[in-house]
Amino acid sequence: MTGLRLERLRADHAEALLAFERENRAYFTRSISDRGDAYFADFAEIHRARLAEQDAGICHFHVVLDASGTLIGRMNLIDVEDGCAELGYRVAEKAAGRGVATAAVALLCRTAGTSYGLTALKAVTTLDNPASRTVLERNGFTVVEETVVAGRPGIRFHRDLTSAHHRP
Ligand SMILES: CC(C)(COP(=O)(O)OP(=O)(O)OC[C@H]1O[C@@H](n2cnc3c(N)ncnc32)[C@H](O)[C@@H]1OP(=O)(O)O)[C@@H](O)C(=O)NCCC(=O)NCCS
Repeated sequence: MTGLRLERLRADHAEALLAFERENRAYFTRSISDRGDAYFADFAEIHRARLAEQDAGICHFHVVLDASGTLIGRMNLIDVEDGCAELGYRVAEKAAGRGVATAAVALLCRTAGTSYGLTALKAVTTLDNPASRTVLERNGFTVVEETVVAGRPGIRFHRDLTSAHHRP
């Protein structure tokens, strides 16, 4: 999909983000844990807390916008420590299978190195999520080891952001 862009999370993304999470809740829970009712009930407070974490440099949150400016995904880097962070993402059902996650992860890997000074990323996915595994492998993530993700068998991945091969 062309015309994709990432925006660093802001207070004024709240309304579109809540709509995105509501609209795709059932879709997401087919492959990842549900956020729970409290997430939706307390969304405004949680959004403010996320922005505070971001201001503290612990996390870097992003929304993915299509060419018309519609919010179709999120791409997050959490638990920043020693130049490394954990990547997490989700893409709207209506935008699925068009390369959005693959392209947005590529954008975020560049941003992670150039804007946030990170040198490596890690990610996990469950074995029963081949779409996510495809997205990671197409972006140069390599398998580290098998693990358990939310009680299900999974895989831990790593990507070096400093190697010449992956430099933008
Ligand atoms: C995983 C997710 C982010 C993928 O988003 P997306 O924008 O549809 O992904 P892309 O289109 O970039 O690429 C997915 C690739 O996996 C492939 N794929 C999808 N289902 C697959 C399957 N069952 N087996 C093998 N490959 C599969 C797609 O065909 C596509 O490859 P293609 O371009 O050759 O067709 C999205 O499905 C999602 O948000 N899921 C719920 C949340 C989630 O699982 N997040 C990741 C947690 S680790």
